Amino acid sequence: MLDNDGGKVTHDGRIDYIASGGAVLRGELRVPGDKSISHRSIMLGSLAEGTTEVSGFLEGEDSLATLAAFRAMGVRIEGPEQGRVRIEGVGMHGLRAPAAALYLGNSGTSMRLLAGLLSAQRFDVCLSGDESLTRRPMARVADPLRQMGAQIETAANGRPPLWLRGGHALHGIEYHMPVASAQVKSAVLLAGLYAAGTTRVIEPAPTRDHTERMLSGFGYPVLRDGARVELVGGQSLRATRVDVPADISSAAFFLVAAAITPGSELLLKNVGVNPTRTGVINILRAMGASIELLDPRESGGEPVADLRVRAAPLRGIEIPLEQVPLAIDEFPALFIAAACAEGETVLRGAEELRGKESDRIDAMARGFEALGVRHETLPDGIRIRGGAIGGGTIDSRGDHRIAMAFAVASLRASAPIEILDCANVATSFPGFRELAAAAGLTVTHKATGA
Ligand code: S3P
Repeated sequence: MLDNDGGKVTHDGRIDYIASGGAVLRGELRVPGDKSISHRSIMLGSLAEGTTEVSGFLEGEDSLATLAAFRAMGVRIEGPEQGRVRIEGVGMHGLRAPAAALYLGNSGTSMRLLAGLLSAQRFDVCLSGDESLTRRPMARVADPLRQMGAQIETAANGRPPLWLRGGHALHGIEYHMPVASAQVKSAVLLAGLYAAGTTRVIEPAPTRDHTERMLSGFGYPVLRDGARVELVGGQSLRATRVDVPADISSAAFFLVAAAITPGSELLLKNVGVNPTRTGVINILRAMGASIELLDPRESGGEPVADLRVRAAPLRGIEIPLEQVPLAIDEFPALFIAAACAEGETVLRGAEELRGKESDRIDAMARGFEALGVRHETLPDGIRIRGGAIGGGTIDSRGDHRIAMAFAVASLRASAPIEILDCANVATSFPGFRELAAAAGLTVTHKATGA
């Protein structure tokens, strides 16, 4: 059986990769649509008055889980077909009780944002997910939502499943977020659409602002002032067009791949370069990478550009603290850049990485051990000393970004890297292997039998 990523599915549903270097990367690529924006396009399109047309939608398992959840709540959605989705909005109060629990697979964004949106509905709903999602903390959204009047039960230690009891009127709160999390901010704002009065969120550091931008695009008034964002509940959303740019989090693997591979040059087309997402570019440039933003433009309220990246010698740096939330999903790729840099790279203030699809500090460190990359883990980060990378076997722990990061590492490894448990690459980057192959990076499935 082959999955939609074209890798080998073993009898227990796993896909393993073998990545081998020796290539020079060249060409022009368009990576799939932005995951964060794709989720939000379905959510706001479903609640709007009128028909929303989306293009560039990410046909990955995570955003498809959000799409399926809204279909299960009675929203008519056509597509996706080549990234095009047509959503017949049901209005703010038109969702219907789903017949069963909403299963959200691996997707933390679906669960946290839906917790906010659905805690304000008239019906009960249960949100569940796969084994990885079931380990992830949900108290960070349940706590502020309860302060707003929501009735939410979780499994032990604030983990999924979540049971949301309908029919409870919400009221606005002023919420000072203890963690810099766009998912928490968005959950509170989405609940705030239904709350009496003003809902105000204050963030400790800037995080991705796609929810705020898209709410404005759907005609919902949102006030933003520095770290503060607020809205008044009870208004409505107007259907619109959403053009989803390519995902900078997926582009990141190719930015690093070209940067570390002598002789390489790639042009990545139509990438979202919202300043709350460009930490990966800032950090790579500080390490000496050559990345140009060509034809910067605005599309549907989001800045986009074509990115040209050329190979260049990298040096280790101390990653500035304020860049951490702006590059939070890109650290697996950035750690590979650090392993190829001259000198030491130090990351601190990134304890959030331990609560992603895997504990990404530990998963990357174990991988580095296998490949002979010198490093030292810290409670909130890692020190990585650049140098030679060997071959070996890596356990991706079912984490898409760990799998793709080590595929990129193979470009500088002295022998092939076998990467286990890669099926979840399809959650964010369907077609990764094919696109990598088009650029010159060979990732094959593991040979069986012999
Ligand atoms: C996301 C926010 C980030 C990010 C996740 C997507 C979003 O999570 O890691 O992949 O779409 O809002 P946190 O906000 O929890 O850091």
